[in-house]
Amino acid sequence: METIMLYEPREDSYLLEKQVSRFAFGNVLDIGTGTGIQALAAANSRHVRSVQAVDINPASIDYCKKTIHHPKILFKKSDLFDSVSNEFDTIIFNPPYLPSDPNEPQESALATSGGKHGYEIMERFFTQVKEYLDDNGMILFLISSLTNPVKVESIMIDHGFTFKRVAKQKVSFEELYVYTAEKNPIIKRLKGIKNINFLAKGHRGIVYSGTYKGKDIAIKVDLNPGAVSRVDMESRWLKILNKKKIGPKMLHSGKDFLIMEYIDGEKLFDYVQHSNKNQIRHVIQDIFRQCYEMDLLQINKEEMHHPVKHILITTDGARMIDFERCRKTLDPKNVTQFCQFLTSGSFAYGLENKGLIINKRILKFAQKYKHDPSRKNFDTILEEI
Ligand SMILES: C[S@@+](CC[C@H](N)C(=O)[O-])C[C@H]1O[C@@H](n2cnc3c(N)ncnc32)[C@H](O)[C@@H]1O
Repeated sequence: METIMLYEPREDSYLLEKQVSRFAFGNVLDIGTGTGIQALAAANSRHVRSVQAVDINPASIDYCKKTIHHPKILFKKSDLFDSVSNEFDTIIFNPPYLPSDPNEPQESALATSGGKHGYEIMERFFTQVKEYLDDNGMILFLISSLTNPVKVESIMIDHGFTFKRVAKQKVSFEELYVYTAEKNPIIKRLKGIKNINFLAKGHRGIVYSGTYKGKDIAIKVDLNPGAVSRVDMESRWLKILNKKKIGPKMLHSGKDFLIMEYIDGEKLFDYVQHSNKNQIRHVIQDIFRQCYEMDLLQINKEEMHHPVKHILITTDGARMIDFERCRKTLDPKNVTQFCQFLTSGSFAYGLENKGLIINKRILKFAQKYKHDPSRKNFDTILEEI
């Protein structure tokens, strides 16, 4: 095997080194140590107890072992965290951060190319790092304007980190940025939850999946705690709706987070595609039952005219999700809006393909129900399915 080149310290190394001296503490892991520059800066801080320094390049580990003899530092070959088992207070990474360049020789690409777009290695790093970072620990890393910092920032959010840019420097055709990142304080508070992974992002919150006491759960976290919390509102609605067997079962909630049962289901459109007429009819009736219950409670879900993302079909039936837009009203529209949806464009077409033709007169019955939301008027609607 040809020897892979060692990365001689450059502007990026020196910029990060300064921040390492400033921030590193406790037990430190330096990933992609190269010539060991960050490991040494950390070891020389009186706030640092020990340093493990790893690199995927065996030439780097050989070089460091020969040239650096510091009682606090241990050098080891590792592809990111592959040969690492502890938890650390500080994790340092000056990664290969440039988009790959087909003209770059292989011997140097390992130290410079972060993947096709440059950020792929950071994506891998953030997928794994939380298992190795103490809850009160800090990540210190560097990227460049060429790495797509907006993308890297969104990767951090997705994996439950908050971050700050703590230093920058213009270097000819690019700008270098040093970031600190920490576990999101809300997620840190949720003790006992394992396997936290990003699931979805909305305007106001992020949903993570996880496991708690062996059960699959979903965690909704407010992105802007402090403002009127939508997540808090949703917990209040769920408390009421769960009594009617509507919505994911709520397990625990706080001002800025909500832990609930994870609903493993299929979107309505997908379900219709592979199900037969009777199965679909059953699901639609189940959704109507929930709409009616919500109408009785005078709670409007606000999105039943187009609920494609908000209903999941499971083996237990139709399950509604996302109640953050709910509001109390004297004029609830869940049933009538769902009637509109059933007769509208592509969904009605999909039902027709399965031989389930919903006569447009359902809209007339919906009108009647709107003026008099009685059980009798609701049943007339159900009979149309
Ligand atoms: C930009 S250099 C930084 C070197 C040194 N830390 C510094 O600041 O000068 C990136 C280093 O990451 C190493 N590296 C690349 N991919 C890696 C991986 N998957 N796991 C560990 N190290 C890796 C390279 O071998 C290289 O030494």
